[in-house]
Amino acid sequence: MKSKQFYERAKKVLVGGVNSPVRAMKPHPLFIKRAKGSRLYDVDGNSYIDYCLGFGAIILGHAFDYVVQKIKEQVDNGTIYGTCNEYEIILAEKVIKHIKSAEMVRFVNTGTEATMHAIRLARGYTRKNKIIKIEGSYHGAFDYVLVKAGSGATTFGIPTSEGIPEETIKNTIVVPFNDKDAVERVIKENKDEIACIITEPVLGNAGLILPENDYLKFLREITEENDILLIFDEIITGFRISLGGAQEYYKVYPDITTLGKVLGGGLPIGAIAARKEIMEYLAPCGKVYQAGTFSGNPISMVAGVATLEILERENVYEKLEYLGKKIYNGIVDILQKLNLKFKVYQLGSMFQIYFNENEIKNYNDAIKSDKDKFLEFQRRLLYKGIYLPPSQFECNFISYSHSYDDINETLIKIEEALKEIWK
Ligand SMILES: Cc1ncc(COP(=O)(O)O)c(C=O)c1O
Repeated sequence: MKSKQFYERAKKVLVGGVNSPVRAMKPHPLFIKRAKGSRLYDVDGNSYIDYCLGFGAIILGHAFDYVVQKIKEQVDNGTIYGTCNEYEIILAEKVIKHIKSAEMVRFVNTGTEATMHAIRLARGYTRKNKIIKIEGSYHGAFDYVLVKAGSGATTFGIPTSEGIPEETIKNTIVVPFNDKDAVERVIKENKDEIACIITEPVLGNAGLILPENDYLKFLREITEENDILLIFDEIITGFRISLGGAQEYYKVYPDITTLGKVLGGGLPIGAIAARKEIMEYLAPCGKVYQAGTFSGNPISMVAGVATLEILERENVYEKLEYLGKKIYNGIVDILQKLNLKFKVYQLGSMFQIYFNENEIKNYNDAIKSDKDKFLEFQRRLLYKGIYLPPSQFECNFISYSHSYDDINETLIKIEEALKEIWK
């Protein structure tokens, strides 16, 4: 097993053998040699239908020909200039065309950077310090947001990592998703002190949790009434749910949007987008500082432009919705047949099965799922050639390159795996 050998070697030089903790899958992570279309090919010669897709970064499929061709052309012309290139403008124009709440854009290199600076921008713009964060909504690995709820539902948070000083997060207040009362209470208790509410419009880092009825509309209204900025972290949902993101799907428009993943067409990217009046608080126009050596680099820009061109001209979202429904209906049928009462959620090309019989409305519901059984399920599928992200709290994704046969094969394997576990 080469993957196992590589892992042993990696553990000596890379912390835990990985460069991002969720990859530290048991008994060992897969080492991938190449990826094409819907499939990953590992160093041992196995192939897998991929539902992780770079944790949602890939929407067209791995090494999509048109995107690869454009990247290759650009590599020949240089990878970083340290000054400006036209593709920064073209990609920004496309973002503004599709993301309705955006009038200007600042490109960065990761989602973490995008949300970190979006929060700084909101604080600079409103001249207020406190932020409201939703429990289970992930915004990257930086201090202000690595916070979970304290003992009460709406108390000040506690850090979810060592190395975060309490004073750094004393301005972060954590509330449950889909809980309007909690937001109302916190705003009342912290009158005129809250700069922003930041949330994923659809939680994609606690499995897949959808907003109830008018929850997003409620967030829009209450933030407007109280001079609080609403930040939608669309790093997963942007260009995945639709060209206009979740904000277009739900018709609720935030003040600031953060983007990443799909926008980079498989290369590192992040973006902050908002109306001009807010964006111009950023340096060099304004006094909120933000900078990055690789920001707007021509390779990420070209990959993003090429990806958006395909999303604009082909019927990508129709196909993704069809495949999403097909896998959702297939899983629901299998669960019914096996008399398992687990909950399944799907939105477009995002889906997750919770090993939990109750509705999942927030993080607290999600963590009551049977995580160990999920991991067993994930492992059994892996051995059958289906790759799901290795956690109950990740979301599965489908790409434009997935075929009907891929979905049929996956459903057969899902049924087999569930039968093996619940014999
Ligand atoms: C919604 C959301 N925001 C922010 C991030 C952080 O992005 P990155 O890992 O590119 O820093 C992620 C990453 O998974 C994410 O899903």
